[in-house]
Amino acid sequence: MDFENLIVEQDGFLGFVTINRPKKLNALNKETLQELHEAFTILNATTSVKVIILTGTGEKAFVAGADIAEFANFSEEEGANLARSGQERVFNLIENLSTPVIAAINGFALGGGLELAMACHFRIASENAKMGLPEVSLGVIPGYGGTQRLPQLIGKGKAMELIMTAGMLGAEEAKSVGLVNYVVPQEELLALAEKLGNKIVSNSAVAIAAAIKAVNANFEFGVNGYEKEIVSFGACFGTDDFKEGTTAFLEKRKPNF
Ligand code: COA
Repeated sequence: MDFENLIVEQDGFLGFVTINRPKKLNALNKETLQELHEAFTILNATTSVKVIILTGTGEKAFVAGADIAEFANFSEEEGANLARSGQERVFNLIENLSTPVIAAINGFALGGGLELAMACHFRIASENAKMGLPEVSLGVIPGYGGTQRLPQLIGKGKAMELIMTAGMLGAEEAKSVGLVNYVVPQEELLALAEKLGNKIVSNSAVAIAAAIKAVNANFEFGVNGYEKEIVSFGACFGTDDFKEGTTAFLEKRKPNF
């Protein structure tokens, strides 16, 4: 897969998406967002890719935000369109993907960068990572779901503080508030992402996809997550993976999904 601003690779069952605009600290311009839409759509449809790892090129930045130069002269309407199309085509797409996505935050994850990491199913970070939503320092608010996903992940009060102060959390603090699951030295970050990814790979992809939908249902307006869980739980009983998983357990062998 050839992209201008992304490196997309596959190694075994793992897919890798690396945002590759190092001179602009991997900031999300229009083309990069379009390429992210394409790359995640393609990888999700590739059955041999069972986990996707998203990271940024270099040692300094995961993504330093939406590309400020690109929207500095936008009108109100253009601003709303930017947020709407970004949310629908990239951020919501990733959050609702059937394939698990791990964000490996290797440096600055600011504004749209943190919003991108928060749209992933979970996050790990290197020790040098710094995370925040500094939009109010630019006279704007987070527009790619940040005002919704940050309170979901770290609670309303802490999210309000971070957004209002335009502050940044270091990696350890981000871990202490539940924004990232693990913090490791930078040179160990991808190895940890791969280790976690390979643990996931050994489980049923069909069941994992159903679990993602059920967990996400908790955050959807007007959707009863418990009911969604009941229906999805029942549907699992009709799958080959359920037959294989339970049979393997009873036969005291590893399942072959
Ligand atoms: N949009 C566009 N360009 C960006 C960018 C962004 N969000 N973040 C960084 N860049 C560019 C800089 O303009 C600079 O480009 P130049 O060399 O052509 O001038 C280049 O990336 C390197 O950034 P620089 O600011 O020189 O690096 P630094 O080490 O001094 O500072 C940051 C790093 C992350 C603190 C700083 O780049 C920053 O504050 N970026 C914006 C963060 C932000 O507000 N994001 C939310 C956007 S909604």
